[in-house]
Amino acid sequence: MKVLVTGGAGFIGSNFLHYVVNKYPNDKFVCLDALTYAGNYSNLYPILNKENFKFVKGDITDREFLDNLFSHENFDCVVNFAAESHVDNSIKNPEIFLKTNILGTQCLMDMSLKYKVKRYHQVSTDEVYGDLPLDKPELLFTEDTPIRTSSPYSASKASADLLVQAYIRTFNLPATISRCSNNYGPYQFPEKLIPVVISKAIKNENIPVYGTGENVRDWIHVHDHNVGIDLILRNGKIGEVYNLGGRSEKTNLELVKLILKLLKKPEDLITFVPDRKGHDLRYAIDSSKIERELGWKREYEFEKGIEETINWYLKNQKWMDEIFSGEYKQKYKENN
Ligand SMILES: NC(=O)c1ccc[n+]([C@@H]2O[C@H](COP(=O)([O-])OP(=O)(O)OC[C@H]3O[C@@H](n4cnc5c(N)ncnc54)[C@H](O)[C@@H]3O)[C@@H](O)[C@H]2O)c1
Repeated sequence: MKVLVTGGAGFIGSNFLHYVVNKYPNDKFVCLDALTYAGNYSNLYPILNKENFKFVKGDITDREFLDNLFSHENFDCVVNFAAESHVDNSIKNPEIFLKTNILGTQCLMDMSLKYKVKRYHQVSTDEVYGDLPLDKPELLFTEDTPIRTSSPYSASKASADLLVQAYIRTFNLPATISRCSNNYGPYQFPEKLIPVVISKAIKNENIPVYGTGENVRDWIHVHDHNVGIDLILRNGKIGEVYNLGGRSEKTNLELVKLILKLLKKPEDLITFVPDRKGHDLRYAIDSSKIERELGWKREYEFEKGIEETINWYLKNQKWMDEIFSGEYKQKYKENN
């Protein structure tokens, strides 16, 4: 089969492509990415020479471009990772989030209907459920938890999810949705908490922590997320939502202290900064549906995953330096 993977030069999408391009040599994978500031062509170096892989630069909100691509490629499946993904940016400038995350999803679904794609998968987030109180650890998000968003980012992702559900009901789009908790792993853009902490700690720089650092996140290794998406794409039931979580809740402060300990750096690098506006308190996700129905199982315990991840960033400091210097933006031109 032929699969279109949008946003595949970003963090989760590139890890997904590394996994599936190698796992399914008889399937073909086309990565479509606009290479925004968060897209890094060099994330795709490990698979660029594979015969079943191709990169196309383009924007998911560009209907004419998409129509041309879909008419030539005859895709069986579409997996939509492409998004503006950083909450802080959505607080500063919501508009691009609405355009990419909502209208981009609509354009992709319109093309999927027009060209009779057999499966459309929307990569969503647990942030659409809002947050949970800190004093009720027994509460988890299930697929039936009402949508209740806090940031322009989560509102845009939730809007896209609702639109996907409307296209399933109204137009019979054969689609599925996954909602995952916070990912960590290789190739994460150093604007998100874990790579920020690692890169600053390596350079002995101050590490900003929002508020008192008590906000809780449920961390999942990116590989486990991607195994889940692949299972849903191949065996998931049309019309269904599947939650994916790491069962690994940590306060931000605990997480930062753990990374500092593993890097043998002092805790006094931690600097508390004014809290993020509308900051969600706690995310925690119940993944029992995908475990029960599709046999998904996490491979990574957090302790093992975070050590591996830290080692990856230590070994790949050039990758990080190229982002900080802006050099990564030239990688596509250099290779095409
Ligand atoms: N990072 C997480 O912890 C997490 C958790 C759950 C869900 N998600 C979702 O997973 C998806 C991928 O997240 P990520 O962390 O890899 O994001 P990312 O920011 O690292 O990557 C996003 C990619 O999308 C591309 N892109 C942006 N706008 C585009 C457009 N208009 N057309 C084509 N490509 C465009 C970027 O160039 C980039 O390569 C997103 O939909 C996000 O909402 C992320």
